[in-house]
This record gives sequence, C-alpha cells and structure tokens, in this order.
Amino acid sequence: KAIYLKDYQQPDYWIERTELTFELQDEYTLVTAQLDCVRNEQAQPGAALLLAGQDLELLSLVLDGQPLTAGQYETGEESLTVHGLQERSQLEIQTRIYPAKNTALEGLYRSGGMYCTQCEAEGFRRITYYLDRPDVMSVFTTHIIADAAQFPVLLSNGNLVADCVDDGLHKVTWHDPHKKPAYLFALVAGDLRVKEDRFTTMNGRDVALKIFVEPQNIDKTDYALDALKRSMRWDEETYGREYDLDIFMIVAVDDFNMGAMENKGLNIFNSSCVLANPATATDAAYQRIEAIVAHEYFHNWSGNRVTCRDWFQLSLKEGFTVFRDACFSADMNSATVKRIEDANIMRTVQFAEDGGPMAHPVQPDSFIEISNFYTVTIYEKGSEVVGMLHKILGKDGFRKGSDLYFERHDGQAVTIYDFVQAMEDANHVDLTLFKRWYKQAGTPVVTVNSEYDADAQQLRLTLSQRCPDTPGQSNKLAQWIPVQLGLIGADGQDLAIDVEPAAAWTESSQVLHLTEAEQTFVFNGISEQPRLSLFRDFSAPVKVEFEQSADDLLFLLQHDSDGFNRWDAGQRLMLSWISAAQQGRFELLPQVRDVFARLLADESLDPAMVSCLLTLPSEAYIAEFSAQVDPLAIHAARKQVQQAIAASLVKEFSACYQRLQSTAAYAPVPAQMSARSLKNLALAYWVKGSADGLAQAVSQYRSADNMTDQMAALVAVVNSGASAQAEQLLGDFYQQWSQDALVVNQWLSVQAGSAELGRVEFIQQLLAHPAFDWRNPNKVRSVLGAFANQALCHFHREDGAGYRLLADAVLRLNDSNPQIAARLLTPLTKWRRLVPELSELMKAELQRIMQHDALSKDVYEVVSKSLI
Ligand code: ARG
Ligand code: ZN
Repeated sequence: KAIYLKDYQQPDYWIERTELTFELQDEYTLVTAQLDCVRNEQAQPGAALLLAGQDLELLSLVLDGQPLTAGQYETGEESLTVHGLQERSQLEIQTRIYPAKNTALEGLYRSGGMYCTQCEAEGFRRITYYLDRPDVMSVFTTHIIADAAQFPVLLSNGNLVADCVDDGLHKVTWHDPHKKPAYLFALVAGDLRVKEDRFTTMNGRDVALKIFVEPQNIDKTDYALDALKRSMRWDEETYGREYDLDIFMIVAVDDFNMGAMENKGLNIFNSSCVLANPATATDAAYQRIEAIVAHEYFHNWSGNRVTCRDWFQLSLKEGFTVFRDACFSADMNSATVKRIEDANIMRTVQFAEDGGPMAHPVQPDSFIEISNFYTVTIYEKGSEVVGMLHKILGKDGFRKGSDLYFERHDGQAVTIYDFVQAMEDANHVDLTLFKRWYKQAGTPVVTVNSEYDADAQQLRLTLSQRCPDTPGQSNKLAQWIPVQLGLIGADGQDLAIDVEPAAAWTESSQVLHLTEAEQTFVFNGISEQPRLSLFRDFSAPVKVEFEQSADDLLFLLQHDSDGFNRWDAGQRLMLSWISAAQQGRFELLPQVRDVFARLLADESLDPAMVSCLLTLPSEAYIAEFSAQVDPLAIHAARKQVQQAIAASLVKEFSACYQRLQSTAAYAPVPAQMSARSLKNLALAYWVKGSADGLAQAVSQYRSADNMTDQMAALVAVVNSGASAQAEQLLGDFYQQWSQDALVVNQWLSVQAGSAELGRVEFIQQLLAHPAFDWRNPNKVRSVLGAFANQALCHFHREDGAGYRLLADAVLRLNDSNPQIAARLLTPLTKWRRLVPELSELMKAELQRIMQHDALSKDVYEVVSKSLI
C-alpha cells in the first residue's frame, strides 16, 4: 500500500500535448482527452502505457485514429493500460464524470452553482485517465462547452483564444503555452462577477488581473487585488522573477479542502482566504489573505516554472514558497511579529507533529496517501530549513543560489537536492552536512552550558545537540545548526564578539555554526559576565535546554536588541509561572508587574510587538513544553496566571486601551492593525480584571464599524464568563450576519473554540444548527476544528465524550470527504503524551475507527500509524 521514494522511475511515455474538451451537462460532464504521447528514450519499444484514473466511466478509446477493442487495453481499479503505442502516438480518451456527486472536492466538482477543480496532488485522475505525476509536463489546450445562460464565465489556464455563443451554448478555448504537470490544471464555470486591474511587469509586459467571485461578494475583492500587485512587484525586486502570461486570474470558491491552489494563471482560493471588506473581515483575516495571495502567486516560479519530480519533493515548492511568502509578509508588516507568529506555529503544531506518530522528514521516504503529507513539517519546517540556508549563505549568497536554481531548472521537474546543489554551486560551499535537515525527522534538542572566567576574560559556551528517535528512524546524526546570538552587557548593549574557533562564526549574520554533537566555543575579551541571547530571530527550529534565572529572563524581556528573543524570554517566564501555578505556588511579583506596566505605557514600541510580549503562551504551546500533558491542569493554571495579570494591572490596561482608541476611518494598514492588536489585547485583560472593562467591551461591540473591533469585543465578552451578556451579543451577531457565510463561520468557531461555551453537548447543538453543513470544509473546521484544537478543557473531558464526538465526525466524513476526515483526526493522534486516564480513552477511539470497514486511505494511514 505504501509508495517509496527509492522506487522512483521515469514513466515509459511523456505527453507532449494535451487537448481537453469538457461538455458540462446538468447530470454529468463528458471529457475528451487527446494525448500526444512520446516514448521515453529509456523505455522498451512496445512498452505499455499505464495511466491513472479514479471514479471514471470510460466511454471510448481511440489510438492513432483506430478505435480500441478488448485486449488492446485493460482497465484496473484505478488504472488504464493501453498497448500498441508507437514511438509517437495519439490517444483519444472519452470519459464521463459526475461533478455534482463529487463530495471529496478533488478533481472537477460543483460548489454552489459553479464548477471548479482541485487537482493537486492526484485529483486530475478523477477527470480523465492520465500520467498524473508531476514529472510529466505537457502543453494544455482546453475547450469548454456549457449552457450559455448558466455559465457566462468559463475559465482555464493560459490565454483565451476563442469565445463564442452558439445555439445557447457557450464555447471557449484556452491555451497555456507553458508546459505543466496535470496537478496545475484548472477549470472554472459559473455566473461570476469580475473585478479587474492591470499590472506592468519590470520588462513592460502588460498583465490583466482578474478576481472572479459570486455576485454577492464583489465588494470583497479590493484587498486581494492590492495584495496581488504588491506580491508581483516584490517578487521582481527580491528574486528578479517576472510574471509570464498576459492574464492572471483568481477565483473564490466556498467549498474547498485547503486554503488555495496555484494553478497556472488561474489560482483557485477558498473564499475565506481571499474575500474581505472592513465590515466582515478581521485584521488577522486581512493578513492571512495577503500572505496566501502572495504564496500562490510566488508558486508561479517556485512550483510551476520549476516543479517537483515526484511528491516526495513536495517541500521543494512548499517550503521554499512559504519562506518567500514569510519574507514578503515580514517586509509588508512588522518583521518581528511575523517571526514570532511563525515560531509559535513551529513550536506548537510542528514540534508536536515531529514528536508524534506521523513524524516525517522534510523529504519523506514513503507515504500511503500523499494528501496526508501537506503538513506543517513539509510547509513550515521546510520553510525554516530554507531560512537556515539564507542565514548561512547571507542575503546575497542566497539570491545567487536562487537565480542559478531558476535559470538551471526552468521548465523542469526536479528534486530538493537540485535546489541545494544550486545553492552550493553559486556559493562554492559544501552543504553535505546541511542536507541532513531534509532526511532526519524529529526536533533537535540543543543543550547549553556556559562558564565565565573573569580572570581570563573569557566565556566558554558548550552546545550539544541530540535528536530523538521518530517512527522508523533512530541514532540520528548531528545537524548543521545556525545559532544567531548576542552577548549582552549590564547596560543592555551587545558586546563585540571575538570567538574561537573563528571559522565557526559568521560576523555578517552573527551566526555561530554548530555542526557536531558537542562543541565548545570560547569568546575572548569579555570583561563582565554577560547575559546570553541565543537563537535570535528563531535561527533554527530546535528546542533549547538552557536554565536562565528569572532575573535574566526579565532583563532580556526588557533589553534584548533582538525582538524575537525579548518575546521568547517573556514566554519562558510565563511558562515558569504556569508550571508554578500547577504546583499551587504562583505569585505575580511586584517587579514583574512593574515591567509589564512599563511595556504597556512605552509608546516607543510597536504596539503589535507589545501585544505579543503580553500574550500568554497558548494551552497547546504549554503542552508542548510539558513532559506528560494534563490539559485540564494546564487550562486551570494558565487561567490563574491570566487572572493575576489582569487583576494587578487593571488601571494600566484601561489606560492603554483608552490611549489607543482611534477616530480614524478603518483601514487594513499596518500601523492601524498594530494599534488595534494592542488595544484589543488590553480590552481582553481589562474585561477579566473589572466590570468596567466588561461594560467597555459591550460598548465597543455596539459601536464598532469594523469586524476586528466587533469580533474582539465579542470574544472578550464570551471569555469573560458573563454568560447573559455573551448570549445576548452572540444572538445579535447571528441576526446581523446570518446571510454572510464567512462571518457565520467566525461565529461558529468563536463558540466552538471557547472554554466558556464549547462543551460537548453544545457542540452537538452547533452541528445541528441550520448554519452548519457537513459538506462544507470551512464549516467543519469552524466547529469541529475549533473544538478539538482550542476548547481543550472540553475536548479532553474526563469521560472521553469529546474524543467520541470527534471520532464520530471522522467516521462520518470518511466516506464523503476523506481528506477532511484525516485532517480532523490530528488531535486524536496525540494520545501517547497524555496523562494515563485520558490516554486510554483517546486510544480507544482510535481503535474504534480502525475497526470500521471501508476506511479511506487517508484515514487508514493516520489511524494505523497512530496505533503502532
Ligand atoms: N499547493 C497548494 C498550496 O500550498 C495546496 C494544495 C493542497 N492540496 C491538497 N489536496 N492537499 O498552495
Ligand atoms: Zn503552496
């Protein structure tokens, strides 16, 4: 059942040209594919052509003009084998498919009144029989024929070359001159409105930009269009990459398994990741939209022009593209805040994956279902690995490497090592050791020891690394870990660095290179005992074992020149309080209180940064730092610390809130978003600390003219535990927004993810609410995803009812949408780290799922690996 990287072989045929005709009928769609096949030089003459196909009705097969009969081909469960091909042959295949019955949302399906596609990774085989693998790159021409009244808009990749209405039928032809793998194919049909703009590339190409949406959403397209233009400019300036067609289209779709998809010239987006206006979208949603629009656009080079040889190379495009979009977001907004957000995801979600049963390397060795490998490891850890290369090579060296990579491999399907090779060749460095990051799963742990010798004026720093065993991997080797660091003097200034061995230090990036299991570095000319600031800017995705005193952490929180480490010091302090609270001995010391008060009043700091500094680590983050996880104890302890901070700083929070009140018209611009984030954090604490705060939150809710403030006030009231007010506002909110699906989803998730409301019985009520729909992945995520990942005190209910609820949902979705079912399972895979009573209950639910017959590959892989 599993597929292995080591078994990779080129196909026996290539497909030079693909011509597709879609006839969209009410009940079904007819697909005719003409494939110009060319035998691979490495293949034997007479080799059979083996195509993939799934849920297809084969209507006819014609080879070089001759209809094929039994014996000249065979169909298998998910394949078609054709015999008798010449060195060059043309195969014509006609199939019938049923998009309206396609609930898996892969291949061609209906979403509301429109048709759309999702072909990555292996969805194209649900459209027609094909060499559905990324190393087969073809030039596509697409004809679409549909009822003219229902489908005024018919889209596919590339340029529109014909468009007419004939006898009530709308007929179009699209031609994409760029060779591409089938996973980048897209088709859209519907009655859509379009928002248009133009962009002139650095070499003067005039590009039409179009965003297509359902009519009611036309007032939610401005921001994405703007973000698109910023992305196009940024990729030219930062990577020298220019757009390569005359048209670039985005389509918003309500039913979508993932965030968005980079189909050539025709990106398709989950509507939640592209649509926004001030009244309906929060600042966080705006920032997510900016990042995802950029991500999909950047794929045009990192993914489409240069693509993956096979799916084991997925991080080649995803890791690199996440790195590119992260740098873009850092340039558009606060770089430090972006870094903090990304490190937070690594430490909560990715470290947990790396420590669990689904742990896999950035380049996996095997998989059962590739859809299960669109993971935080492939995406976010993959991005961190690229980021380490950036730190090691420096900005200019990295750019030389990426230039060489794009030039050398344009139009090719390549591997992760081709990327590293380009980095090596462009910089004349040997990255052999660095490549271990791609093959070893698990989160390395770095242990720190330091000794200061006042007489010798030396600091000796000993770093050692180890990496825990993960499924199928043990005895791991040392990795190349870039440690960006500073030594801070009593005045808060960084000391000059003179370190031995000198070769282990890169001055320009302030990075110390740890390349062995254990190394000692000697810093000379150190005239006072410094404070250590290690792994600045989260320079490597590792766990750090380093005992620093509360005094040192408080000092770093106030004085570190590296914003990321200021935040990290604060998080470590707060973690220590939460663990003290778990042992019943937490108290907020006056000097700590005073530091927080000063931060709140410090107008020289970026407000969004202050907001990060004063945000407690999430329950999931705390769990990642606990040996054995007791979710209920974590919840109680965190709440106690939060309450103590709120109670002792009521005046300061209310003053901060008042200071940041603004009369300016809402705009989703960085300065305003930053101010709102601190204002609303202050409100959240203020509500917990006093009745005045609660009154203010209700008033902000009533007067808000934008969703950021409305939603923040709603959440603050819900979390305050004032149930009467919460119920009132939630009712009003639904009244106001029941017609807007995306806002209703936010309403569902606020409730389902809340510790105050998200009890199992209440989740069952939400599942029965008219606003809920099992077929829509966003709704499933809004209720069940929020419940299992955020309302942890209810999900982990002592009698296991939370686990049972989730397992029931997984079984239900297993048949209709396996991808979503498998995603939903993730919280249940963490049973081993829980306290014994909960662990048993969770495991029992996994076993129950395992006993179900007809498990999808997706669910089977996750459950079976979790139980090993
Ligand atoms: N390539 C898309 C992106 O990251 C994600 C597509 C995921 N699709 C899937 N079936 N898992 O931009
Ligand atoms: Zn991507």
